[in-house]
Amino acid sequence: MREHFELQGYDAAGRLGELTVPRADVTVETPALLPVINPHHETIEPRRLEMEFGAEMLITNSYVIYGSDEVREPALEDGLHDLLDFSGAIMTDSGSFQLAEYGEIDVTNEEILAFQHEIGTDIGTPVDIPTPPDVSRERAVDELATTQQRLEVAADLDFGEMLVNAPIQGSTYPDLRERAAGDAYGTGLDVFPVGAMVPLMNDYRYGDMIEAVMAAKRGLGEDAPVHLFGAGHPMMFALAVAAGCDLFDSAAYALYARDDRYLTVRGTRHLEDLEYFPCECPICTAHSPADLRDRSGDERMRLLAEHNLHVSFGEMRRIKQAIRRGNLLELVETRARAHPTVIDGYRALLAYVDQLEATDPASKDAFFYLSGESADRPEVQRHHDRLHRIELTGELLVRSDGVSATAGEYDDVWTVIPPFGPIPGGLEQTYPVTAEVPDRIDDRAYRSAIRGITALTEHSDASITFVHDGWPTSALDRLPDSVDVSTVPSE
Ligand code: GUN
Ligand code: ZN
Repeated sequence: MREHFELQGYDAAGRLGELTVPRADVTVETPALLPVINPHHETIEPRRLEMEFGAEMLITNSYVIYGSDEVREPALEDGLHDLLDFSGAIMTDSGSFQLAEYGEIDVTNEEILAFQHEIGTDIGTPVDIPTPPDVSRERAVDELATTQQRLEVAADLDFGEMLVNAPIQGSTYPDLRERAAGDAYGTGLDVFPVGAMVPLMNDYRYGDMIEAVMAAKRGLGEDAPVHLFGAGHPMMFALAVAAGCDLFDSAAYALYARDDRYLTVRGTRHLEDLEYFPCECPICTAHSPADLRDRSGDERMRLLAEHNLHVSFGEMRRIKQAIRRGNLLELVETRARAHPTVIDGYRALLAYVDQLEATDPASKDAFFYLSGESADRPEVQRHHDRLHRIELTGELLVRSDGVSATAGEYDDVWTVIPPFGPIPGGLEQTYPVTAEVPDRIDDRAYRSAIRGITALTEHSDASITFVHDGWPTSALDRLPDSVDVSTVPSE
């Protein structure tokens, strides 16, 4: 067990945890958002990020500091915490991002690691190679070998209490991501960023992002803290947390503000297009969009950046509360409704229902059926898995909720409740069957219930009769021939 990361609770694959950062002598609550600080122009002072926004950790770039006469000396002399005036944990990046952008950097892996240690970094980063999406498999394999070799170099050096990131690359090849994650985990390094996500984020390719994260998660132990490198848009935080990401960094709050872009959990808005601010933060309460448009460039940028931070930290708190409460997937589903690209991410996530089910708590407060995707949630899958294993004999009547009449003699009578399917008599009032489902049931919920009946036939010699009150044929058509079906009018 990696003793610096302690897990406190799960919902789907999302978790609450505590990351202990020994060099900073602090414990950071996860999921956590790390604002990105550019040491040359701080949009919001780190002290304010800590005091007003609740940032427990931030991230800055050691390569930028290394290459600047102006900040390198004070960083070496007084350390990073004094330079930035921040008492929480500080993670630094290595220049890999610049490597990806400009093709080269003038520092070696060993040099920049040693520099990070010298300036007092709490979590350092080796020079991994951020292989972009959609490149040839050959290139992805080749660059992975270099990344892995640099991680091993980092693992062999002694950096005292400094934790070290082990970035996971592999482009858009899930099997390479999974292998890279296994190899990174094997180095014994401390934190595991999923890398080269920026091009996917910029194109809103949340489905591909989820593929990469879920693959990386398969290669890592549960005790591995996972960072989604370069992911700062609050519209995808809930989705990424549900996939098991623990750390996020946001440069978006400042970069977007620079272009008059206003972040919301439902997407990005342009200041020009807003007549009202759809937000309760101090900035949006005190100002109107017209007000902000009248301000000078610098002031407008600062105020927008503050709003962007309020929204981002607010969403992180909402996510933590949702994990506590057990309704994280309801939150993801709500976010998915705001943008088709997030639906894509959510559908990609639900395709790994077994991976989600493995850590999903057996009991929660409630299950809200909010859309067709709810039918594919791990709680439904778990119920179907149980039905699969049941061995029954004799005559079994399964009847839809609302049918009470029984014709004939049965050994047992079960109720069929969409989206779960057959529920043994007496268990109708237990979780998750107590789900809140709309009265006007959709096709996917019916079909999922039929999958449940089908699962029950797998290991049973029982003869099963299904009586329903007018279910759609699109669902009934999927029943195996062995099930005897009849209909009665609902009462
Ligand atoms: N910042 C954004 N993406 C990456 C990445 O893949 N590697 C590193 N080191 N930094 C990043
Ligand atoms: Zn606001």
